[in-house]
Amino acid sequence: MNRVDGKVALVTGAAQGIGLRTAQLLAEGGAHVILTDVNDAKGEAAAKVIPGALYLHHDVTSEDDWIRVTDSAVATFGKLDVLVNNAGIFFYRPLDTMSLEDWRTITAVNLDGVFLGTKHAVRVMKAAGADGPSRSIVNLSSIAGIVGSVLTSAYNMTKGGVRLFTKAAAQECAVLGYNIRVNSVHPGVIDTDMGDHVLKDMVEMGVFGDEEAVKARLLENHPIGRLGTVDDVAKAILFLASDDSAFMTGSELVVDGGLTSR
Ligand code: NAI
Repeated sequence: MNRVDGKVALVTGAAQGIGLRTAQLLAEGGAHVILTDVNDAKGEAAAKVIPGALYLHHDVTSEDDWIRVTDSAVATFGKLDVLVNNAGIFFYRPLDTMSLEDWRTITAVNLDGVFLGTKHAVRVMKAAGADGPSRSIVNLSSIAGIVGSVLTSAYNMTKGGVRLFTKAAAQECAVLGYNIRVNSVHPGVIDTDMGDHVLKDMVEMGVFGDEEAVKARLLENHPIGRLGTVDDVAKAILFLASDDSAFMTGSELVVDGGLTSR
């Protein structure tokens, strides 16, 4: 079943990891996909092997970039049905040494990026009228948007912000009759470059003796007994992007192997 057949979908941070897998699954489901990223070499290479896909350079912290990519989706494909606000960064910082610049850097990508994306997606989606199947905005939060963790206060702040921003945007779009759904996705630790940082940096920061110790703790934290894969998350995003989730808005889809369930 082509669950997103004919839809036009824009995925940010799509050069690798969760964003790339999401772009692939959306395309397999029949969508026209626009991949965006700041890593042009990887982004262009990725788009080349996805049938009909387009790659655009796009820094999610830049409002000018957002205007350019959302307008270009409409100019190229005639509409925008799906936005996946996936681009994000992560770092560990102790509270007492984290600089204001660190705080602002992570806020700019993880929170300003989601705000600007939602703003400009709503602008072009709303202008197309409220008829037909609903459009969908999917925001990547995290389990870090639900529970706190050690040395990640800035990341938690951004992902918690994404979680509640999503609910408010969902309310606004539903009550004002825009026919746009807005939901968040909350992955546990996923095997990507970012997931790898989670492991390696924990050792570097001296929280654990070695990577094996971090891995053991992470596995213990995920009751299902393994870390997540990009497929686990991309399938959840695909569901929220598709009409199969037509009655879902303002919801938080947790994909964490049970981590936050206890
Ligand atoms: P990743 O680090 O593998 O990929 C992130 C992508 O975002 C990269 O291609 C990077 O170039 C791009 N990017 C970074 N800054 C950007 C900017 N200013 N503008 C545009 N693109 C930018 O990350 P991963 O693991 O695929 O994560 C994707 C999303 O999922 C992020 O929002 C992350 O916070 C979230 N997430 C990841 C988890 C994990 O364990 N990997 C767990 C929970 C949430």
